[in-house]
Amino acid sequence: MGNYAEEINKRRTFAIISHPDAGKTTLTEKFLLYGGAINLAGSVKGKATARHAVSDWMEIEKERGISVTSSVLQFNYDGYCINILDTPGHQDFSEDTYRTLMAADSAVMVIDASKGVEAQTRKLFKVCGMRGIPIFTFINKMDRDANDTFELLDEIEKELGIATCPVNWPIGSGKAFRGVYDRHSNSVVTYSDTEKGTKEGETNVISMDDEAQLTEVIGAEAMSTLQDEIELLDGASAEFDLDEVRRGKLTPVFFGSALTNFGVEIFLQNFLKMATTPLPRVSKGDVLDPVENDFSAFVFKIQANMNKAHRDRIAFMRICSGKFDASAEVKHVQGGKVMRLSQPQQIMADERKILSEAYAGDIIGVFDPGIFSIGDTVCMPKADVCYEGIPTFAPEHFARVRQVDTMKRKQFIKGINQIAQEGAIQIFQEFNTGMEEIIVGVVGVLQFDVLKYRLESEYNVEIKLEPLPYEHIRWIENKEEVDLAKLIGTSDMKKIKDLKGNPLLLFINSWSIGMTLDRNKGLVLSEFGRN
Ligand code: G4P
Repeated sequence: MGNYAEEINKRRTFAIISHPDAGKTTLTEKFLLYGGAINLAGSVKGKATARHAVSDWMEIEKERGISVTSSVLQFNYDGYCINILDTPGHQDFSEDTYRTLMAADSAVMVIDASKGVEAQTRKLFKVCGMRGIPIFTFINKMDRDANDTFELLDEIEKELGIATCPVNWPIGSGKAFRGVYDRHSNSVVTYSDTEKGTKEGETNVISMDDEAQLTEVIGAEAMSTLQDEIELLDGASAEFDLDEVRRGKLTPVFFGSALTNFGVEIFLQNFLKMATTPLPRVSKGDVLDPVENDFSAFVFKIQANMNKAHRDRIAFMRICSGKFDASAEVKHVQGGKVMRLSQPQQIMADERKILSEAYAGDIIGVFDPGIFSIGDTVCMPKADVCYEGIPTFAPEHFARVRQVDTMKRKQFIKGINQIAQEGAIQIFQEFNTGMEEIIVGVVGVLQFDVLKYRLESEYNVEIKLEPLPYEHIRWIENKEEVDLAKLIGTSDMKKIKDLKGNPLLLFINSWSIGMTLDRNKGLVLSEFGRN
């Protein structure tokens, strides 16, 4: 048993969730600035280069027709070792985005202050909620006209079902943005946007007790509004409770402007203090402590074709316990094989670094000769570890798929199964027929193009996709108790099955789901399936 407590306990592994354009990239860049990962002197250039690198990588990936990598950024700050997991947005949104959340111990939710809670945030939040991990909220773009602060908080509480606890409070917004009031120290951090992109954006701290000076700086009107709001806030908001935060029931809320680098360091400092060290994971019903146990990890993502020349696959693993030593042999539990992990690497946006060691909390990518599946466990040869699988997330787009040349049935089946095994798509069948009718479900529509492209380029099979109108899929939780033949659904409901024969239901809208539940007492439907 190793003693890696110090290395492990300084790790904080989190994902950033947001709707596209809320400012995730900008905030990440500012974090990196504090971590020294981007050179301060060249910060403006650094920002451009960093973004350039990321988008280049994405372009390449798109050209190849494969989904965009969720990259991992690691940096050190204030004695912490921080892993940020990227969750791709826009049309790159796929099941991988959800799976990345399975590898994180906490999440940072970035919200655009003028937009409030948006669709993609809502979806990602659901997965965080399912796991009960801590969620930290950064309300961004306060330098632009923002929605009413109380309304924003109310929206988070109502829409997402999590209590909010503002750690600081904005004073105005847009042109009238004057800074934030820090509740703990009862002081105001004043805003100036003169140093865009640099570390020194933050400025004066003035105590609330120093009313005259504060009024002079922020103006009498803002001062009076602030005093009123503080009074209201103290009466209305939830008490700060770290246990509740760690259970994902209460989200600490911060306000700022990533672009002008205001409020970012305050957020980072507080967040790091409140976020958990690598969380223990459950193996065979036991909770395995990350520090007390030898190396173990689980696969949360498989990426094919990272390197076109080699047609390789990379399995991404989250280390759950102990220290990973590249020279040691490990056991792939599901495959029953002892091996050395090949070319272990840390994958950043556009560069890969070969690793010799890593610790619980870290993410590594290893060369996969086609043996790993999502959810697989890797541990020391003598250990008896097997982590719970990763849930299957509900696809939202469906299509019937047929190969154009019927002679190519074999390649088609092989290809589509392989791609499903990597987790890029989910495949289903009509409930009453065999394999001839295949229905593909995806979380993001781009995956349809990926499927078409990959089947053509890798398996030489041309396919036709016929879109289906369904948007909702539900797993039947109590399938043993339900006679599917007798199930009374709505006219637009479709019964299908997965490759293991588990029954599933497709619906066009959520109203039909409600109707079906009403008509079949005792039926339990779920948005998440188990592998
Ligand atoms: P994302 O990763 O969540 O998709 O968002 P990203 O950081 O790329 O930000 C989206 C746009 O919002 C960018 O503008 C960015 O500069 C801007 N932005 C981010 N944070 C703030 C903020 O605090 N205040 C203001 N006013 N704008 C912010 P863009 O014009 O799309 O890109 P760019 O040309 O600036 O790179």
